Amino acid sequence: MSSPIGLPTVGSPEPEAVRGMFTSLASRYDLLNSLLSQGQDRRWRRRAAQLTRVQPGDRVLDVCTGTGALAAVLRRRVGSAGEVIGVDLTEAMLAVARARVPEVSFVLGDACQLPFPDRSFEAATMAFGLRNIHDRQLALTELARVLRPGGRAVILEFSQVHPLLRPGYEWYSRRLIPPIARRVLGRDSAYRYLTSSISAFAPPEVVSEWMSRAGFRPVRHHLMSAGVVAIHVGRRPVARPV
Ligand SMILES: C[S@@+](CC[C@H](N)C(=O)[O-])C[C@H]1O[C@@H](n2cnc3c(N)ncnc32)[C@H](O)[C@@H]1O
Repeated sequence: MSSPIGLPTVGSPEPEAVRGMFTSLASRYDLLNSLLSQGQDRRWRRRAAQLTRVQPGDRVLDVCTGTGALAAVLRRRVGSAGEVIGVDLTEAMLAVARARVPEVSFVLGDACQLPFPDRSFEAATMAFGLRNIHDRQLALTELARVLRPGGRAVILEFSQVHPLLRPGYEWYSRRLIPPIARRVLGRDSAYRYLTSSISAFAPPEVVSEWMSRAGFRPVRHHLMSAGVVAIHVGRRPVARPV
């Protein structure tokens, strides 16, 4: 069941509620991202793209691509000889993405049932998507499935801020995010979901455990901005462990 205000349920967000929320946010999503992260989101995505280690000519999948911000950075790395495909559940987000990066193919689809054959991509990315997926373990298993052996999955997600900075971060989340969201969106309900889903999300060690269970070896993570976000990197082994 979705929550009474029609937002996704934190912890097990229903795809229908997630789609409804992002449909209503789509036209202002990029502006809100920049304002709320004070422009840091671009730096986080650039680092995530770098960690894929993709080369010109490679084929990359960006899952939960949204408005295509990470797909655009990936496309610059693989060049016109390569290919980037973005997948998302929400058509309104994809419409913004298509206008932003016409060189990328954007496909409607579910992270838990990716519409691609096994071993199709050199790398797969997901930025700020995992927290919004109902079955996170299945989505990670799907990422591993579509990667070629030796390919990398790179997952950018909110994480846990360093304890010394936590009071300031909580003050920012409670006091500053809602008025900014009200100003840009005319309401702050979606950003109540954002702040509560961030604080309820798993610590990076648990995400690493999920990735290991999905078959990635090795798995590691990099914290950025004092732990505001983590970038998780896993490699699909060349020979699957028995
Ligand atoms: C917070 S946005 C992130 C967008 C983009 N990756 C970025 O960095 O800004 C989360 C996106 O995940 C998509 N999403 C959520 N659950 C999904 C699922 N099961 N399959 C595909 N996309 C999903 C939403 O539609 C939304 O566009």
